[in-house]
Amino acid sequence: MYKDLLDSAIKAREHAYVPYSGFKVGAALLTKGGKIYEGANIENASFSLTNCAERTAFFKAVYDGERDFEAIAIVGGKDELVFCPPCGACRQVMNEFCKGDFKIVLLDKGKEKVYTFDEILPLKFNL
Ligand code: THU
Repeated sequence: MYKDLLDSAIKAREHAYVPYSGFKVGAALLTKGGKIYEGANIENASFSLTNCAERTAFFKAVYDGERDFEAIAIVGGKDELVFCPPCGACRQVMNEFCKGDFKIVLLDKGKEKVYTFDEILPLKFNL
């Protein structure tokens, strides 16, 4: 169902900068208008400054003026792809821009799994 979006995430993963973990993550963010923004993780010697793939994709899109999002595909792993749900920090960034029905598309042993944002972040912090 989201094969093209997953393919974009797989392609984006090759842009990862991961000298410390070797764990490459790719994300592909689909806007309501049909545009895809790709992101990859960018690590730093000061580890906590690492930017996750999902946030790279969101920040590129938001900088471009995008505000309405449909879905994000995320893939990650060292050599093989493993199940790679978004970290807590990325869920909070999603919360800034996404509604409860926003879709998170993951690969689980090669099979597409789709979750709603409400499912993966049921209790949301908002101001
Ligand atoms: N990482 C992401 O890019 N997205 C996530 O949601 C989880 C973790 C990255 C950060 C770091 O470069 C590597 O995966 C290992 O934690």
